[in-house]
Amino acid sequence: MYNNHHVIRNSRWFIFLLWMIIWLSACSTADLPHEGDLTSFTSILAAQLQSLAQPPTTPTLLPTSLTPIPTPTMVPPASSPSPASPHFSLTIHPLRQYAPAHNLYIGAAVSPKPLLEDPYYAAVLGHEYNLLTPENAMKFEFIHPEPGFFDFTQADVLVEYAEQHGMTVRGHTLVWHLQLADWVEAVPCDQMEAVLKDHIETIVGHYRGQVYAWDVINEGIGDDGKLRDTIWLRCIGPDYIEKAFTWAYAADPAAKLFYNDYDIELENQKSSGVYELVASLLQKGIPIHGVGIQMHLVEAPPAAYLAKYMGSFADLGLEVQITEMDVRLPEPPTSETLIQQADIYRLVLRVCLEAPNCTAFVTWGFTDRYSWVPEFFPGFGSALVFDADYVLKPAYIALREELGKGE
Ligand code: XIL
Repeated sequence: MYNNHHVIRNSRWFIFLLWMIIWLSACSTADLPHEGDLTSFTSILAAQLQSLAQPPTTPTLLPTSLTPIPTPTMVPPASSPSPASPHFSLTIHPLRQYAPAHNLYIGAAVSPKPLLEDPYYAAVLGHEYNLLTPENAMKFEFIHPEPGFFDFTQADVLVEYAEQHGMTVRGHTLVWHLQLADWVEAVPCDQMEAVLKDHIETIVGHYRGQVYAWDVINEGIGDDGKLRDTIWLRCIGPDYIEKAFTWAYAADPAAKLFYNDYDIELENQKSSGVYELVASLLQKGIPIHGVGIQMHLVEAPPAAYLAKYMGSFADLGLEVQITEMDVRLPEPPTSETLIQQADIYRLVLRVCLEAPNCTAFVTWGFTDRYSWVPEFFPGFGSALVFDADYVLKPAYIALREELGKGE
């Protein structure tokens, strides 16, 4: 009896031990996350989005007209936090598909936060565009926040995304009077030139070979057509502009260097001032390759003047690019204002396509979900070509129609 009991007790222990062994080994082989082995949400997302955001590999017939537009494929990103976008879709024929035939980059300004947090944003961006420009991440206050300290993390996110998605990067911006780091205001004037030289050399050097073009000077001319009164002009003197181009060129001789400004699509003192400045830089042999026309609009620009203005730079051997286009509408938009907006986008793209030296068409964002307009122009919004739910607007269709013409 005792022996039997003993055997039974031992065999219970044996079964218990066996279970323990099986359970422990299951634990060690199971795909359980533990510290140091956690795949971050963003890398899972990045992998998902990478496969989502690839342009279609099998060529489909290109429509010559967009009416009717091919039914967009419904491709909701899997298992991701939803920004509540039930209408999300990816187009069959994205804008970037038409870009090479026109020798044109189709781009958008981008921010790292939605790129990492909103999978719809990331999916549409890489699907539709073949160029990106940082909306803020390369500006002084973010990239050079302390004396002698550069923070490339935000901008690197964008550059990496661009590389993974076959996109080109337009750098924005090296010299501007806004969004400066606070510490710059306290720099003694006689040290300002050294600060700017270091700023330009470090950033352009960091992204050498990765950033194809730079807005070297942003908004350097005032409405009166003269050099804008900025900290750079006051401390370094008027030749800060040629110095900036020369430093940028030395740091990356292959990068295209641009002067960038707003309201120069209009016939005014500013557009003439920009032309004169650029022509004088060329005369002095300063390395400059193009002029960026920002194109923040409320109404249609005069197309004939814009075409002539672009032509005047072609005559100097320079490129022009539409660098920051948006068309703000009084809120709420109506079907009428959305159509008017579409016509303005169409007009500007058409002028660009007809100008052989117009090499990029870039909008300042792409979805109304993230646009600077409502904050900076109260009462206005809806300025971009996708609405806040990533549904394409008449403006998108207008761009597609223009790009698809003649195919
Ligand atoms: C804007 C950004 O969109 C905003 O997020 C930021 O707060 C201010 O700057 N001209 C330019 C851009 O050259 O850098 C500006 O971007 C818009 C006007």
